[in-house]
Amino acid sequence: MNNLTADELREAYLSFFESKGHARIPGASLIPENDPTVLFTTAGMHPLVPYLMGQMPHPAGTRLTDVQKCVRTGDIDEVGDAAHLTFFEMLGNWSLNDYFKKEAITWSFEFLTEKLGFSPDQLSVTVFKGEGQEGEPGYIPADEEAAAIWRSLGIPDERIHRLPREDNWWGPAGTTGPCGPDTEMFIDTGKEKCGPDCRPGCHCGKYIEIWNDVFMQYNKNAEGKFEPLGRHNVDTGMGVERTVCMLSGQPTVFDTEIFAPIMAKIDELSTTKPDDPELTLRARRIVADHMRTATFILCDPKGGVKPGNLGANYVLRRLIRRAVRYSRFLGIAPGFTVKLAETICEKYKHIYPELAENLATCKTDLEAEENRFNQTLDKGAAMFAKVAEQLKLHNQTQISGKTAFKLYDTFGYPLEMTLELAKEQGLEVDVAGFEEANRKHQELSRTTSAGSFKAGLQDNSEVVTRMHTATHLLHAALHKVLGPTANQKGSNITAERLRFDFTWPEKMTDEQIAAVEKLVNEWIQQGIEVTKKTTTVEEAKAEGAMALFGSKYGDQVTLYTIGDVSKEICCGPHVQNTSELGSFKIQKEQSSSAGVRRIKAVIGNM
Ligand code: ALA
Repeated sequence: MNNLTADELREAYLSFFESKGHARIPGASLIPENDPTVLFTTAGMHPLVPYLMGQMPHPAGTRLTDVQKCVRTGDIDEVGDAAHLTFFEMLGNWSLNDYFKKEAITWSFEFLTEKLGFSPDQLSVTVFKGEGQEGEPGYIPADEEAAAIWRSLGIPDERIHRLPREDNWWGPAGTTGPCGPDTEMFIDTGKEKCGPDCRPGCHCGKYIEIWNDVFMQYNKNAEGKFEPLGRHNVDTGMGVERTVCMLSGQPTVFDTEIFAPIMAKIDELSTTKPDDPELTLRARRIVADHMRTATFILCDPKGGVKPGNLGANYVLRRLIRRAVRYSRFLGIAPGFTVKLAETICEKYKHIYPELAENLATCKTDLEAEENRFNQTLDKGAAMFAKVAEQLKLHNQTQISGKTAFKLYDTFGYPLEMTLELAKEQGLEVDVAGFEEANRKHQELSRTTSAGSFKAGLQDNSEVVTRMHTATHLLHAALHKVLGPTANQKGSNITAERLRFDFTWPEKMTDEQIAAVEKLVNEWIQQGIEVTKKTTTVEEAKAEGAMALFGSKYGDQVTLYTIGDVSKEICCGPHVQNTSELGSFKIQKEQSSSAGVRRIKAVIGNM
């Protein structure tokens, strides 16, 4: 393998594709120009959508190559492991209805093996396994063509894995646009398999995905169906950080030359280390990753994204605040965000001159946000000190789960931070109690059928929270369009979609579905504030709140109000403003059981 730096890799890639007839074009802003479906540019294809759709010819021709800054926060909780980042650079080459699978795969292979020096033995690939039945609507065949090309290049069939849509289909989730099956390239790190089913796509870290070739022959239309695009595009994306990591043989992206000055600065500013080495490692990486992303967002030439409570502004706030929280584990003094922004600017300004141009305002914004959040954290520290004093006064040693949860929910203290502080004071924390409180907080649907609670939420990630609020809007819209008998029977949310069951005797008409969708989207666009208060069931019902019929509630309940659109008794969590949902789309309306209909819907992507 050739141990290239990021600078060398970018240049090698762009000139390789120039030698194959591609025009080198500049990357676009991180803040999307004309695409309301995403808060940030998440892939190199976003700025090229009109050309991929064939709406107009690209002025530079039908073969393009570039480096695109990308932000993806869907995996924010994974940051801290070996390869996940919220900001990364994507190298891309495009065919706009020009070459197709054979050239794309052959050139990928040639670049990986001849220019980067990977051995073909290190390479495993995946291809789309197809779906549906031949002759039936929605049938898409397996991509045996891609598999055959890989075989012809010498990749044996046992290293060509056929995977379903979740793994091998690329397209903007939940929105319309060009999409298609892809073939992904993985480097085998040589680590032991984590189990007999370990294969590319497994998250154990044995196989690292570095490149993806997408064959865009479909368009996802407003009904969520895949129709032929009438064009054969290629959209590829190679991750700079991961590729540099694999080329250097370093164990994680944070150990590469890309992060070296940032990690060095963090270490210079650190004054302590938590006892737990895992936590030290994670905290360093989270601070590094989040500060790099925040710096690039704040310095973006398009500008306009500042820390705030809505949409992209909220994502930025979350990144900075998370970095501040984790900096405290390392004993980093306040004022560090500005120092790291300077280091990051130094590292990148020759490639991204906007970093130097906008550094001054970036620093002002970072400083203000860091100060604001430190004040909240300090209030939490004051609460912690009081709790500790009371416990000691009563000769007790355990912080209750409820208190730990309050520190987390109100003052932004992750459990780990409370554990650290407790240890310093010789106290313990009721972790099971914290988890119980957290679980209760997340519980969404309570079914009485089994006489027990059933959690409708699978996790607490951002997208799930947004879908949860979408569920309340959907419920309210169904009441408006169908009337008050269209009542919730159940709900289930995953990161991909929401599912909502409600009482209704017959299939909804297309007009009714369209009307519900329109209402929800109007409410999203109106940017309505979501508020919560604690009250009693009686009072909530007196205010006209919706509650699940027959459910048992405790004395105190939480009432979530969305302007004058919706009032529901519910445990949350919810977004702060409906605009955070982006957009809403019903994908399916079907029967669930007698007298009960089921809607599956998605919301706009972050
Ligand atoms: N658009 C494709 C991706 O992001 C290349 O993986």
